Amino acid sequence: KRANNSASSPSPQLLRRSYSSESAPERKVAVLGAAGGIGQPLALLMKLNPLVSHLSLYDIAGTPGVAADVSHINTRSEVAGFVGEEQLGKALEGSDIVIIPAGVPRKPGMTRDDLFNINAGIVKSLCTAIAKYCPNALVNMISNPVNSTVPIAAEVFKKAGTYDEKKLFGVTTLDVVRAKTFYAGKAKVPVEGVNVPVVGGHAGITILPLFSQATPKANNLSGEDLMALTKRTQDGGTEVVEAKAGKGSATLSMAYAGAIFADACLKGLNGVPDVVECSYVQSSITELPFFASKVRLGKNGVEEVLGLGPLSDFEKQGLESLLPELKSSIEKGIAFANQG
Ligand code: NAI
Repeated sequence: KRANNSASSPSPQLLRRSYSSESAPERKVAVLGAAGGIGQPLALLMKLNPLVSHLSLYDIAGTPGVAADVSHINTRSEVAGFVGEEQLGKALEGSDIVIIPAGVPRKPGMTRDDLFNINAGIVKSLCTAIAKYCPNALVNMISNPVNSTVPIAAEVFKKAGTYDEKKLFGVTTLDVVRAKTFYAGKAKVPVEGVNVPVVGGHAGITILPLFSQATPKANNLSGEDLMALTKRTQDGGTEVVEAKAGKGSATLSMAYAGAIFADACLKGLNGVPDVVECSYVQSSITELPFFASKVRLGKNGVEEVLGLGPLSDFEKQGLESLLPELKSSIEKGIAFANQG
């Protein structure tokens, strides 16, 4: 049995089994913020996934067009567009997975935390609706700052009496996607076979790629190379924000990463064994209540939060220095959710 640890290298057997739509159960996936920069390509990629039977696209504007467009693609899922708050309930009802890329993205010079004031409110209201209309759905949180929006979601669900820590995920897959790409480039190995766990959180120094555990092993990388790779992974989002020069942040690579993560959740729900992805979840791996690490996905969401494994001295230092920032982002989210 091998771990289906990388969407880029699933075993052919798993692929055949999970991609045959005849045997695949009905699964409804809702995308909230579906008309946005991430939402549109994510809607496209989810329409291409044969594990999806119903694709629900929700936004405050623009979804009828996106839904009509995507619905013409001749793949399994039925597509429905919903627009405006009065249609949110219908968009959510019966969802197995809700993916949330709703909210404003960064502009040059902004940190993810600068988005807090706007996005925290959006996430709070969307999660209130999830608690009401599809309390059993897996929630894939993309809206930044993920380090805070996941604790906000948890608090909203706790208040509503629907919180299940196995079903709430901060999507950190883009950090893994970047770490794999940058590592493969530097180590000069084929990117398809590369695996790199990324732990911690999803902002700046809280993003901690564990290159000491990267496979295949590369003996041609110096300590300095690994430091540079770590920094590039941590600053990957900013690299895109600056290149887009005011027109937003990563959307295409994020849609890819979001689709990979949702696919892993669907496989888990469908009982495919050994589906492992990194995600920011409720955790007891460190003293913090939320932490990103490898997670085994199953029929109820998180089946097991996996440990960090052996860290290099550089990674141990990185872990020590990220904890205070991650702690304060978590506390900020919890405080926001409980005010007023
Ligand atoms: P965008 O501005 O292009 O799209 C956001 C969409 O959300 C818009 O269509 C907007 O109408 C919609 N929206 C706003 N309020 C809403 C509400 N109350 N309900 C439903 N939809 C609502 O932004 P983009 O580039 O798609 O980014 C979205 C979010 O994803 C941002 O917060 C960004 O920081 C985050 N992000 C997260 C990443 C990650 O790795 N987790 C990577 C890149 C971006």
